[in-house]
Amino acid sequence: MSATSLQFVTCPGARVGGEIGVPGDKSISHRAALLAAIAEGATEIRGYLESGDCLATLAALAALGVRIERRAAGSLRIEGAGLRGLAAPREALDLGNSGTAMRLLTGLLAGQAFDAVLVGDESLMRRPMERVAAPLRRMGADVRTNEGRPPVSVRGKRSLTGCAHVLAVPSAQVKSAILLAGLQAAGRTSVREPAVSRDHTERLLPAFGVPIARDEGGVAVDGPARLAATQVVVPGDFSSAAYFIVAGLIAGESPLLIRGVGINPTRTALLDILRQMGGDIRVHPAASPAVEPSADIEVRPSALRGIEVPEDRVPIAMDELPVLFAAAAVAEGETRITGAGELRVKESDRLAAMAGGLESLGVAVERLSDGLCVRGGPVRGGAVQSAGDHRVAMSFAVLGARADGPIAIRDVQNVATSFPGFAQTARAAGLRLAEEG
Ligand code: S3P
Repeated sequence: MSATSLQFVTCPGARVGGEIGVPGDKSISHRAALLAAIAEGATEIRGYLESGDCLATLAALAALGVRIERRAAGSLRIEGAGLRGLAAPREALDLGNSGTAMRLLTGLLAGQAFDAVLVGDESLMRRPMERVAAPLRRMGADVRTNEGRPPVSVRGKRSLTGCAHVLAVPSAQVKSAILLAGLQAAGRTSVREPAVSRDHTERLLPAFGVPIARDEGGVAVDGPARLAATQVVVPGDFSSAAYFIVAGLIAGESPLLIRGVGINPTRTALLDILRQMGGDIRVHPAASPAVEPSADIEVRPSALRGIEVPEDRVPIAMDELPVLFAAAAVAEGETRITGAGELRVKESDRLAAMAGGLESLGVAVERLSDGLCVRGGPVRGGAVQSAGDHRVAMSFAVLGARADGPIAIRDVQNVATSFPGFAQTARAAGLRLAEEG
């Protein structure tokens, strides 16, 4: 059996409802591990996402000499090496499918005393890396790419100087890479973005004892900084919950409750969009304040209608757009999403992968340069290619609930990069989904 033969097969007749949970947040897990690695003392992390991507970050940290103990599922104790205590890796660091791991590590390694090379799988080796390399060079780092793509090679023994960065495109990965380098730089490093991006790094740094300055336009950190070990509780991943939020709306038989989901406002624009489409979604926030807010999210079956999605919502719903396209396919009328050109440089070209899959199921799609216009209507059974992209695969798994025949979704092994156990959770929620191969 080849490694790429795994497929999902969906069947009509879903009866979504009840209660489920989703695994820990991917973005917060990466960041908690990276900051713990350069802190002083032992950090305890609970709810860590044990997915391909976040395990790649742990493996890279172990290769950099960091001691990591797994005490129970999702519970880690990371012995911090201090800001300058990482060790030279013996070989290239393989970040698998994870753009976040590669970009954030580039920032973390930019001010260290040794050289390192970062590589990844076929998809990651095609992704743009100059967006992190260029600002880091301005700080004095020596970061090289292969015509803009990995391998990324970071030369050590550079002294970094803080500087003010203004990003052309909002990106939490770029912002975080710069801040991680800023921790090691002399003076102030600031980042301004044209629109808000997820702010997990800014929330975690104070928890590790590092003061940061924030205003509407950006964030700044003063280096060199000292991080103190702490305890981090990672909430459920909103991006993983998104599949079930949509499933509960479009294939619900009764209310579906998704427990313990992170509701950081820089992540939840999908809720506003789906509500505007007529979705009945209720958020029951957890009582105790934490670094990252969380809630139980309740969704009820709803008849969705197409809308023009406001462009200011799009950057912070980027990871949820594939499943929004699935929702749009069964909404009444047309849903138009623009300002989403970044989708072309994710784990796959998600605009192309979603348009191709929807068309093969009989859904009318207009391809725009920076988005899609999807006309809701009947969905046929058939076969779709996921392009090896976890979010594309899971989006079609949800849409399968509304198709008039089975859908085979090919090449789904990468679902485990962000959502191990997705198929079991989908069945627990009432979707009819088999894994084959
Ligand atoms: C992420 C940021 C987002 C997102 C990605 C994870 C992060 O990308 O799409 O899946 O953890 O920082 P951008 O860097 O484009 O914001």
